[in-house]
Amino acid sequence: MNEVFKEGKIKREDVFAVTKLWNTNHRPERVKPAFEASLRRLQLDYLDLYLIHTPFAFQPGDVQDPRDANGDVIYDTSVTLLDTWGALEELVAEGKCKAIGISDVSLEKVKEIFEAATIKPAVVHVESHPYLPEWDLLDYCQKNGIVLQAFAPLGHSSEPSVLADPVITGIAHRVGKTPAQVLLAWAIQRGTALLTTTKTPSRLAENFDVSTLPEDAMREISEGIKTRVRFNAVVQTGVPGFIPRGK
Ligand SMILES: NC(=O)c1ccc[n+]([C@@H]2O[C@H](COP(=O)([O-])OP(=O)(O)OC[C@H]3O[C@@H](n4cnc5c(N)ncnc54)[C@H](OP(=O)(O)O)[C@@H]3O)[C@@H](O)[C@H]2O)c1
Repeated sequence: MNEVFKEGKIKREDVFAVTKLWNTNHRPERVKPAFEASLRRLQLDYLDLYLIHTPFAFQPGDVQDPRDANGDVIYDTSVTLLDTWGALEELVAEGKCKAIGISDVSLEKVKEIFEAATIKPAVVHVESHPYLPEWDLLDYCQKNGIVLQAFAPLGHSSEPSVLADPVITGIAHRVGKTPAQVLLAWAIQRGTALLTTTKTPSRLAENFDVSTLPEDAMREISEGIKTRVRFNAVVQTGVPGFIPRGK
């Protein structure tokens, strides 16, 4: 990034830089050092957004995935999410990051933070696609000026495949777009931000080339798809990972 910034074609202000606080750094006194270590690694002097990766505090220390003799995660019960949030608020107050948010959270947790916070969460980052629409969470976020950012909007190439859902492929055929473009358009049109990834250059171009879906297609996806699947288990344990599934 620094090389590109030095060339002057893209300025730091043109980039939206986000990173997350890991689970072993939830204790308030660990937040600022963790944040500053991230800044150093990224070679940036401020962040646009800092997220708490999950609402689960792990045993503090340098071991990223602390486990006991049985292989179970060692949680840290001496710190609450609100304690951690307070330390993130201080980062904003000090001008080190412009906004703060939370990731992999339930609606209940979002409410808890929102109601108690001095600086409200700007972003809630969760898995979301037509098989996990998170309507109640989206409704709460929209009423309270929070951006819901959907990860895995294409279903992470997992089974059952959202991209191959007959409702999605039928609409794609009807409107002359690909299933991925239909899914991305649905995500944008219902008011979420999204985070998709591809290693394939042609798909990268395809994923930027989305256009507005007709209202009946939006309704068909929102009301016609009844399958419900969570692909990533992080929200239940704090341990990241997509759930392996047979085809
Ligand atoms: N907060 C969390 O706990 C958490 C957890 C998971 C992910 N995330 C974030 O969310 C981001 C996106 O998640 P994701 O990778 O699961 O998103 P996704 O967009 O649902 O899935 C990406 C997969 O879809 C494929 N794909 C992309 N464009 C396509 C297209 N046009 N047609 C067909 N297939 C297409 C990609 O394949 P190819 O690459 O082979 O093209 C890749 O396998 C991650 O990079 C990560 O930053 C956050």
